[in-house]
Amino acid sequence: MKLTREQMREIGYSVVDRLVEHFETLPEQRAAQKRTPAELYSTLQTPFDEQGMAFEAAMAALERDVFPNRMNNTHPRFFAFVPSPSNFVSTMADTLASGLNIFNGSWMSGSGPAALEMTVIDWLAAQCGFPQETEGLCVSGGSNANLTALTTARFAKLNHRIAGAVAYFSDQTHSSLIRAFHVLGFEEAQLRTIASDAEYRISLPDLLQTIEADRAAGLRPFCLIANAGTTSTGAVDPLTEMAAIAKQHDMWLHADGAYGAAATLCERGRAALRGLELCDSLSIDPHKWMFQPFEIGCVLVKDPRWLKQTFTIHAEYLQDVHRYEEEINFCDRGIQLTRGFNALKLWLSLRVFGVAEFRRGVARGFELADLAEAELRKSGQWEICTRSQMAIVSFKHVRAIDHQRVVEKVLEEGFAMLTSTVLKGHGALRMCTINPNTTDDDIVQTVEHLTRIASEL
Ligand SMILES: Cc1ncc(COP(=O)(O)O)c(C=O)c1O
Repeated sequence: MKLTREQMREIGYSVVDRLVEHFETLPEQRAAQKRTPAELYSTLQTPFDEQGMAFEAAMAALERDVFPNRMNNTHPRFFAFVPSPSNFVSTMADTLASGLNIFNGSWMSGSGPAALEMTVIDWLAAQCGFPQETEGLCVSGGSNANLTALTTARFAKLNHRIAGAVAYFSDQTHSSLIRAFHVLGFEEAQLRTIASDAEYRISLPDLLQTIEADRAAGLRPFCLIANAGTTSTGAVDPLTEMAAIAKQHDMWLHADGAYGAAATLCERGRAALRGLELCDSLSIDPHKWMFQPFEIGCVLVKDPRWLKQTFTIHAEYLQDVHRYEEEINFCDRGIQLTRGFNALKLWLSLRVFGVAEFRRGVARGFELADLAEAELRKSGQWEICTRSQMAIVSFKHVRAIDHQRVVEKVLEEGFAMLTSTVLKGHGALRMCTINPNTTDDDIVQTVEHLTRIASEL
C-alpha cells in the first residue's frame, strides 16, 4: 500500500479540488437526493477485484452513485432534521487527524492531542456556564454523549444497581435517551414519559405528581432529563425549576443540549437556556449548531469525581498508561479506548474564524427562523404551530394535506430540504435554520416553493 510522493500529491490535490468545488457550488447543488435500494445495490454491489484500479476510476463510481445520493447537510437550503452546516477548515482538520492517524485515548499515546481536547472541553464548559472543575470528552455525537451521561448518572446515583430505579423525561425527549436507558438495562416500566404542555415543555405538575407517586410506591426516582432544545420544535424545558426538583429528590439532572446548547453562544440563546448551568451533565453536539462536519459530540459532567469513577478500568497491558495520576486519559472518561481526534476540527475552526464568527453564526440561526415564520404567515397558506424559537419553526398547511407528501415532493425536486414531525397527534412541517450561509432569499424562495408544492397536492 505504498504510493510515490507524486501519486500521493495527485490524489490529494484531486480530493482538495473536489472539496473546494463542493463548498463553492453548494447553493447550485441539490439539497438532497435519494435512490431506491434496488437501484443502488445493482450498481454498487460489484465484487472487489483482486487487482486494484486507478484512483480516478474508483472515484467515478462514488461520484455517480454515492456522493449525489444523500442529504446535503451543509447546503444553505437544507432545513431537515438538524442540519450540519460544516466548514472547510474543519474539513481539513479532519483530514489531518485522519492522515496523522492520531489516537486520542490516552496521554501516553498523544499528550499534545489530549491537552488540546482539554482546551476544547474547558471552552465548551465555560460557554455553557459550567464551573472550571467540569470534566468531559468529545464523542461521536449526541446519542453517544447521552449514553455516556446516563451511564455516569447510573453509577453516581445507583452504583449501577438499577432495580426499582426510575427516570423521567417529557414526551418531546430525543429517542437516543430512551435507547440509552435500554442499553443500560432499564425496562420500560422504569421510564416515565411526562406529558408536555401547550408549549412542548415538560409539565411540572405532572412531573412532581409522578415522582411523588413513585416514591410512595417504594420506587427510586434517580434521574431527570431536561430538553435544552427539542428536535421537533426547539422547546426548552423549565431548567431552573427542574434543577430544584432534582435537588429536592436527590436526582441526577441531565440536559440534552445536543442541538440546542450551542445557542449559549448568543444572547437570545443564553436567555432561552437560563438554568442550563444547574444541570449535572450536558450533551452538546458541535456537529450541529457549531458548524462542524460529522462526527463530533461532547458530554460534560459537572462533578469531577464521576466520569473517571464510572469508566476507569485498569487492564494489565495499559499499566504504562495509568502510571501518572495527573495525566488525562480519555479512555477513563468514556466508552472508547481507541478514539480519534475529532476535537481538532473544533479547535482549529475556532482559532481560524474566531469566536465572534461562531456567535454571529448562531445568532443568524435565530433570525432566519424569524424570517421563515414571517414569510409563512405572509403566504396566508400556512399556520404556525410553534413560533420561531432556537432556530426552529413548525407549521402546517391551512388545508388538511399530508405533510409527508410535501416532504416527498421537496426531496424529489431537490431545491431545498425539510422534514415533518407530529405535534400533539397532528402532522406538521418544520424548518431548522442553523446554517449561517443561508440567505434571506433562500428562506423566501423555500417558502414559495413549499406553498407551490402544497397547492399542487
Ligand atoms: C436533541 C437531540 N438529542 C440527541 C440527538 C442525537 O444526536 P446524534 O444524531 O448526533 O447522535 C439529536 C439529533 O438530532 C437531537 O436533536
